[in-house]
Amino acid sequence: MPDRKDRFYYLAKKDNFRSRAAFKLMEIDKRFHMLSIDDFVLEFGSSPGGWTQYVRSITSNPIVSIDLSPMEPIENVHFIRGDLMNPDFDSILRENLNRIGITNFTVVLSDAMVHTSGNRGRDHASSYLLDERIMNISMRYLRPGGNVILKQFYGDLTKTFLKKWEEQFRYSGMTTPEASRRGSSEIYIVFKGKIHDS
Ligand SMILES: C[S@@+](CC[C@H](N)C(=O)[O-])C[C@H]1O[C@@H](n2cnc3c(N)ncnc32)[C@H](O)[C@@H]1O
Repeated sequence: MPDRKDRFYYLAKKDNFRSRAAFKLMEIDKRFHMLSIDDFVLEFGSSPGGWTQYVRSITSNPIVSIDLSPMEPIENVHFIRGDLMNPDFDSILRENLNRIGITNFTVVLSDAMVHTSGNRGRDHASSYLLDERIMNISMRYLRPGGNVILKQFYGDLTKTFLKKWEEQFRYSGMTTPEASRRGSSEIYIVFKGKIHDS
């Protein structure tokens, strides 16, 4: 069994982040300037909450976070436990947003991924399907000018995915943070400045 406790694991412990994943978001944000103090964030695949903690350190506005697994509370975070691939998820999200009183967001984030299988093709396809679903669900809530960060395992469909969605943004790109594990095909897709009001 390889030792998965690298430098980012110890940094996360030192900085009281719930997961080393927080450093990936931090790196992406530093590089692409994705988050600001005024943001309203919708986050998929949030548990255990490292990304959420990082977002909390930037803005005190409410955050809506979603995961299959439970998540320990964080101040002013509305956590929805659910499966975004569930056909009913759309209406579950809408009901929750109505209840909370939030109608739209300035940023959509996703670090969602089920356990990787080790099969690159399968992991790529699963992450592509999650990202398609996330974009289809969340674009109607993303304000013009809004930004998106999505995890994906790189593969054949990544370019198709970018081509499909990039025309709705002023900028699109891909990045692999230093905090991603070496040898992984994990990338993060970045869309900035939503053009249309869909
Ligand atoms: C890498 S972890 C996220 C780590 C998190 N960003 C952090 O900083 O602590 C991926 C998460 O995606 C969630 N996930 C995977 N598939 C999902 C789905 N269909 N619906 C909701 N959450 C999902 C998993 O339960 C898991 O908690």
